[in-house]
Amino acid sequence: MKTVLVVGASRGLGLEFVRHYAAAGWRVLAGLRHPASTDLPAAVTSYPIDVCNLASIAAAAEALQHELDLLVICAGALGDKNQAFETPEPEDFDRVMRTNVLGTIALIEQLAPRMAADGSIALLTSRMGSIGDAESPFALLYRCSKAAANMAVKCAAKAFADAGPRIVALHPGWVRTAMGGSEAPLLPPESIAGMRRVIDDAGAFPSGGFYNYLGEPLPW
Ligand SMILES: NC(=O)c1ccc[n+]([C@@H]2O[C@H](COP(=O)([O-])OP(=O)(O)OC[C@H]3O[C@@H](n4cnc5c(N)ncnc54)[C@H](OP(=O)(O)O)[C@@H]3O)[C@@H](O)[C@H]2O)c1
Repeated sequence: MKTVLVVGASRGLGLEFVRHYAAAGWRVLAGLRHPASTDLPAAVTSYPIDVCNLASIAAAAEALQHELDLLVICAGALGDKNQAFETPEPEDFDRVMRTNVLGTIALIEQLAPRMAADGSIALLTSRMGSIGDAESPFALLYRCSKAAANMAVKCAAKAFADAGPRIVALHPGWVRTAMGGSEAPLLPPESIAGMRRVIDDAGAFPSGGFYNYLGEPLPW
């Protein structure tokens, strides 16, 4: 039986990943800040992980009973989506950067040694973190944090090139969740089905790549 850990599994795309892999017969582990408050499928084992709390990541890595075939990092913070080019509030800066960048690096570092040799790590970043594709100044802090997260993926792929998991950055599309909002055209199951095809095909979507849910490569 294959094992997946989904971090940021309480709602939105993370919860949909949990439901998807549970229905597909995987052993599903869920990392969330408040395990008791989320309605997970019965067979799912939860771990308390706040990605801004490095000790909680280390404790979860230590407590894992199974080698991971897949780690999906869904925890993310948006900040002010209407923010133009203006200095972020320091509290917002700390929260968004710690969640999207510090948490990502710590999760990859702590959990890569707990992964199967042919395992994969998928980080949900965003097209809004693409420097090559930036077409608007809005959501400045979020864009900066996702650009940094993308760099973390690239560096991790280099660091683990000889031995270690494959690591990819995924853009889920614009999806109807709390973060995506009610006008988003995509529903979570459609986004997850597309990302699953990318996650499953290591040959077509190699480590260190940035892909959208349709499998199209995105500019960094
Ligand atoms: N939806 C879109 O259109 C879209 C587009 C591009 C990229 N993305 C990316 O996809 C990922 C998932 O987004 P979503 O739409 O599912 O967002 P969402 O519905 O707002 O869910 C965010 C998730 O992140 C968790 N989280 C936030 N801070 C955390 C922390 N410190 N520790 C642990 N978990 C934390 C939340 O947990 P709590 O319940 O505890 O708050 C929640 O489970 C994010 O990285 C986002 O940037 C989404």
